[in-house]
Amino acid sequence: MDEKVKKLQNRISEAKLGGGEKRIERQHAKKKLTARERIAFFLDEGSFEEMGILVTHRTTDFGMDKEIYLGDGVVTGYGTVDGRLVYLYAQDFTVFGGSLSETHAEKICKVMDLAMKVGAPIIGLNDSGGARIQEGVKSLGGYADIFYRNVQASGVIPQLSAIMGPCAGGAVYSPAITDFIVMVDQTSYMFVTGPNVVKTVTNEEVTSEELGGAKTHASKSGVAHVTSSNDAACLIDLKRLLSYLPQNNTEKPIKLAFILTDEIRDDLNTIVPDNPNKPYDMHEVINGIIDTESFFEIHKTYAENIVVGFARLGGRSIGVIANQPLILAGVLDVDSSKKAARFTRFCDAFNIPILVLVDVPGFLPGTDQEWNGIIMHGAKLLYALSEATVPKVTVITRKAYGGAYDVMNSKHIGADFNFAWPSAEIAVMGAKGASEIIFKREISEANNQEAKLKEKEKEYADKFANPYRAAQRGFIDEVILPENTRRKLLKTYAMLENKQVELPKKKHGNIPL
Ligand code: HXC
Repeated sequence: MDEKVKKLQNRISEAKLGGGEKRIERQHAKKKLTARERIAFFLDEGSFEEMGILVTHRTTDFGMDKEIYLGDGVVTGYGTVDGRLVYLYAQDFTVFGGSLSETHAEKICKVMDLAMKVGAPIIGLNDSGGARIQEGVKSLGGYADIFYRNVQASGVIPQLSAIMGPCAGGAVYSPAITDFIVMVDQTSYMFVTGPNVVKTVTNEEVTSEELGGAKTHASKSGVAHVTSSNDAACLIDLKRLLSYLPQNNTEKPIKLAFILTDEIRDDLNTIVPDNPNKPYDMHEVINGIIDTESFFEIHKTYAENIVVGFARLGGRSIGVIANQPLILAGVLDVDSSKKAARFTRFCDAFNIPILVLVDVPGFLPGTDQEWNGIIMHGAKLLYALSEATVPKVTVITRKAYGGAYDVMNSKHIGADFNFAWPSAEIAVMGAKGASEIIFKREISEANNQEAKLKEKEKEYADKFANPYRAAQRGFIDEVILPENTRRKLLKTYAMLENKQVELPKKKHGNIPL
């Protein structure tokens, strides 16, 4: 028996060394942790249970039968994060560059299948040179097996991807189907074709970092939802993100303990400037409403004219969607519509109530927007918010103009409670534009056209640049003082806690993609 125990112990020790000391040193020299170090940092201490530590590849081509590494370049299993069960896999770059073989894929599929059966989040820590080149189509098949499972799991269990090294070629499509992508700055990149292919095909000279580094995907493409400064920060960000989410789509997120204190926030009263054309930072409004320091922003540097992220209100998870008057006056455009629509759908799929803060002058005009399909993309947000059945609450802080009024969680598309601040302006368009159209003749016939325009502007503004017409109609349920917003929202979400809505039976809708 002693010998048998020793044999097992030796095998486990060998597996834990991955590709060996030298390659581990190389990984560290690149400022990257190894797969096992990442798992140890991420999970609650001692909670990791590994599966398939003794799995090896089955390839014999290219002398591969002599290169056998136990575990085959991916560490898989389950454990807990803050006491909650999660399944995970971490690709081990020290074994064949973390490349994906048939067996490596089988290991990932096994934990994905368990995560689905049990109903717990799956987390992928990606660090891989892509398809195991020695295996050819078997590796491609392995990828597709994972993609298929990603799709089945979408909207059922939360799927989080960390990109902590290379992620190239078709390998990018698994993270892309998952709910959130967190990228490590400087040490990770994602692209479908790398700089060499780009140079050959388009003659463009570009580095990996420029083409698909964390900053590029966080600001230009929107592929990355969160950027972290290093491996440890990435794993902390993943943990924080998880804390807002439920285990699966049949559960609600955990409600943290909450003690009701003085909920009046009078600093909110002075955030919106008197001049309607002056910007202010919507983050100040968000922070004035939610539990202290509870905002976890998603897509922070992408389409910054809309702010989205998770927060807590009275210990409950909520998803916040807010126009940002500081950037492009908070207009809706192609990118901001896509960003808010995808976030809305995530919240709805996982029972996270939605809060929409509105200060929107309308949709961004121009050929660029029209030719890039603002009609289709704007419709995404309209569709997503209309379709969402979670509690949906709106606060109009200032402008709610035109079609954007309808889109931004208006009563008409199913919002449960619509508040407005006294500074709200709910109208078809701004006073100047409106006056120039409807009083065109009167103004052109006036002796002093400028004075006439000003007079008409005031007339229009007095009538419409306020929340009261909408409140008379019941489109606004209550006009509230900014300082009372937090208190009102705490009560509203508590009131909506057991909201139930059944959608018409269908296979799935046809959101304008
Ligand atoms: C097998 C691989 C590998 C791969 C790297 N290695 N990528 N082995 N298949 N895809 C091995 C290397 O041989 C090396 O082995 C070790 O991993 C580390 O690689 P290095 O090149 O030394 O590391 P580095 O300089 O950091 O460069 C990393 C890299 C580079 C940029 C990822 O290795 C690279 O370009 N790899 C090939 C990437 C690629 O073209 N993959 C296929 C993409 S197509 P030793 O023994 O020396 O440690 C694809 C299609 C998927 O993925 C489609 C899905 C539908």
